[in-house]
This record gives sequence, C-alpha cells and structure tokens, in this order.
Amino acid sequence: MFGLFRKYLIMPNLYVDLPRMLDWNSRLCSWRGAVGADANAHVFTNQALNTIWNPPSRSWRSCQTLWSKPNHFDIISKCIVFSHPAQDLTTENDIYITDPPYGDAVKYEEITEFFIAWLRKNPPPEFARWTWDSRRALAIKGEGEGFRSGMIAAYRKMAEKMPDNGIQVLMFTHQSGNIWSDMSNIIWASGLQVTAAWYVVTETDSALRQGANVTGTVMLVLRKRTKQLETFRDDLGWEIQEAVKEQVESLLRLDRTVREQRSEGLYTDADLQMAGYAAALKVLTAYSGIDGKDMVTESEAPRIPGKKTFVDELIDFAVQTAVQFLVPAGFDKSEWQKLAAVERFYLKMADMEHQGMKTLDNYQNFAKAFKVHHFDQLMSDKSKANAARLKLSTEFKSSLMSGNAEIAPTPLRALLYAMYEITKEIDTEDVLLHLMQNCTNYLQVKPLIIKMADFLAEKRQNLKTTKAFRPDLESSAARIMAEAMRNQRV
Ligand SMILES: C[S@@+](CC[C@H](N)C(=O)[O-])C[C@H]1O[C@@H](n2cnc3c(N)ncnc32)[C@H](O)[C@@H]1O
Repeated sequence: MFGLFRKYLIMPNLYVDLPRMLDWNSRLCSWRGAVGADANAHVFTNQALNTIWNPPSRSWRSCQTLWSKPNHFDIISKCIVFSHPAQDLTTENDIYITDPPYGDAVKYEEITEFFIAWLRKNPPPEFARWTWDSRRALAIKGEGEGFRSGMIAAYRKMAEKMPDNGIQVLMFTHQSGNIWSDMSNIIWASGLQVTAAWYVVTETDSALRQGANVTGTVMLVLRKRTKQLETFRDDLGWEIQEAVKEQVESLLRLDRTVREQRSEGLYTDADLQMAGYAAALKVLTAYSGIDGKDMVTESEAPRIPGKKTFVDELIDFAVQTAVQFLVPAGFDKSEWQKLAAVERFYLKMADMEHQGMKTLDNYQNFAKAFKVHHFDQLMSDKSKANAARLKLSTEFKSSLMSGNAEIAPTPLRALLYAMYEITKEIDTEDVLLHLMQNCTNYLQVKPLIIKMADFLAEKRQNLKTTKAFRPDLESSAARIMAEAMRNQRV
C-alpha cells in the first residue's frame, strides 16, 4: 500500500506523518489483542525488528487516527530547525534544553534507518536537501571514553555558545553511580555547574512504581561556572551529606502528602537514590578545585578500568547518605532510628525482596549504607549474584544468638528465634517466655518487636514458594507472634 501511496505524498506535512504509518501498519507489527483500530502494537515496542508470521493489517479507515490533526503544526510555525551534531553549533542561544543519550540505552541510529529506507526515495521538494543517512558516526553513544569525550565536546560547545546568564536544562535518568560520576566530569569539563535539580515523576503505571525501577527523570539546571571556588575532600563529605539530606527530605515530604491523598506515594527507593546523586552533583560541580587539583583537567583524564576515581567515591557516598533516609512504610522515622543498623538492614532488604529485588550487589550497597560489616551472616547459603536472599528464621534456627555477631544482641534476632519456634509448633506461651528471656528490656522494646513482626508478616507474604523456601510459613509465624505479643499480659 505504501508504495502506491507514497507517490501522492507531495505535501510535506503528510510526509512527516508517513513514519507513524510505517510504525503502526507494518509487517513487523504484532497483535495487541484488542479489536478494531487498537488491534496491533507498533514496530518499536521493543528494540528489535520482530519478524511476525501473521502480522495484523490496518484498513485504510483505521489508519486515519494515525494522521496528525492540522493544528499539531501550529506551534512549530515560527521556528527554524537546524539538524546537526551539538558540537557543531554556530549560533548563540540563551537557553538549551537537552535530553542526551547515555549508557547503552537506545540505538537511535538503528531506529532511524528503518524509516530512512522508506523516506529517501522521491521526497517532496522541502526535503530535497536532507541527508538520508543515520549519521552513525556522529551519534554519541555507549558508555566509557567515547561517551564521555562526545558529551564533553557537545556541552562545552553549548556553554561556549551561551551568554554568562544563559541556562541549560539537562534531562537525566540513570541508576548507575558510574554514569552519574561521568556526568559530573562532563559538567565540570564543560565549564558548567548544576544549580538546581528537579525530580519529575514521569511514570504513572503503579506496576513500575516499585523498588527496582525509577519513576522519573532528573532535570538538572546548569549555568556557567563563573567563580573559581576551591575546597577539600573532607569538607565536601559534610556538604554532600547536608545537600542530600535536604533533597531527600523534601521529596519524602512531598511523597507523604501525596500518600495521604491517594494511598500510594510518588517515589521509590531508586528515585531517592537518584535524587541523592543529583544533590551531590550540585555540590561537587560548584567547585573548580578540590584538594588542589584542577577539576577540569581531572575530568578529562581517561578512566582506568576497574579503578574508582575519587569522584566515584563521593558519588557512592552521596547514595549511601540518601539510603540512610529511607524509612520503609509501616515504621515512623523515630521508631526506625531506634533500631540497630543490622535490624534496619534486615527489614529493609525484606522489603526489597518483597518488591522483587534479588541481586547481591544490592545487599552489598545497602550493607555499606547501613554500616553493617558482616551482612553475609544474614544471607541464605543458596544466594548467588543474581538470586540472593536473606535467611528466613527457619534457616537461622538457633545460630547467631550470642557471640560477636552484629545481629546477636538485637530484639530482631530474638523475634526470629520465636518465629522459628512457632514453625516448630512449640506452645505459644513457651515461645513468649523464651522471647522475654532472649530479649533484654523486653517490656521497653515490645512495641517495636510487634512492629517488626507485623512488618515481616506483610513482607513475607505473596512471595513465590519452593520446597526449600517457605516465606508463607515465615509470614504466618510472624503474624502469630504479633498477635500473641499484643494479647500478652505481663
Ligand atoms: C534520549 S534521545 C532524545 C529523545 C527525545 N527527547 C524524544 O523524546 O524523542 C537522545 C538523542 O540525542 C541524539 N544525539 C546523539 N548524538 C548527538 C550529537 N552529537 N548531537 C546532537 N544530538 C545527538 C540521538 O540521535 C537521540 O535522538
């Protein structure tokens, strides 16, 4: 159909719409399950060209919805589009808004090539001077040195072509500390600094709003770094801590307000981590010199594979600081602070497991953040890099009840032992007695133990069970303990 149809596409605005038709009515489209105009998915639902043996086909009538309404063009009626790499800028502009490629997220040049194949033959005169090539070599892509040097060239040029009071807004989303560290080097080397960071929630799907996924994008506001400020690494630690605290607390306040109105909040832990990175960048990039080193020169030095730079360490530190503010729903801040570090770690990771996280590096990062030295003692023997989990009470049995283990003297350890006894069908009255013996200051900490039991009852339910892994039994043991303690007369 397109072959014939293309002959009539002499109006430039219709030509702009053709790619939408190609994306939505092609043999690479799959079925979406609905009927009528919504029956098919589009070509780029994922980053592959999926060959389909029974592709759906839209009728001419159902293609109508794919055409732009004429007023779509109103807003661009008075602008000039220059299509060239950012590093080749020649005009000066007051404002730049960029959404750069980063990491190895999307191969834009490959996507473009699919459309170019259709568009390059007999374009309307308005497109006669277009270069029908995806310009692979010009795209900034990937990670590592190529990414860093390409980004520095682009942002340095934009900073050059901007007055001293000019402003840039850079959209950025990434969960990797290394990429954020690269980003601070890029900003330094371009003579810019972060003056504000806005976290904008972009995902509304609640399935995405879980621990592992970010729900938004950081808008970094950049201005020229006009002052030559110097600082020392030790002082930076304090400053980063303050900035991260302020940023995370303001997001948590917002989250709480929304949670009160809609029962679900705005941010996940991953969002707060990212906000922590952004706050660190704001502090770091304000300085031109750290410990006597010129940061522009430092930023351009190539990375040594496997070696952490001191900027990497500061970014790690920022994230650890952010993590300290993450109080799981169910606990008040004051209650959470009363818990020992190892208890916070165990409960936080139980929460993460409930959200589906299971990579070992996550446990390592949180152990570092919570300052737990031997988190391995709390991990199941069956943990692997991509399938790690905490020990259940039935796996602890009576281990780590005494001695130097971090968890040994804690009320959480006493509670886990009590839960183990419940699964062994020991009489509840006896279990309560043992719990009181195992827990010094039982009466004082009882409300907190009940909270922990309620928390574990909730976080251990609805998880996949196997013969060797029975979180459902753990959940019911925790529930029995919570109720028994609530009804206990002492
Ligand atoms: C994250 S995407 C932007 C997506 C866009 N904001 C949108 O919503 O469709 C990054 C874009 O940067 C472009 N790009 C890559 N290298 C570039 C360079 N050197 N100069 C200008 N743009 C570049 C890529 O082609 C890609 O289109």
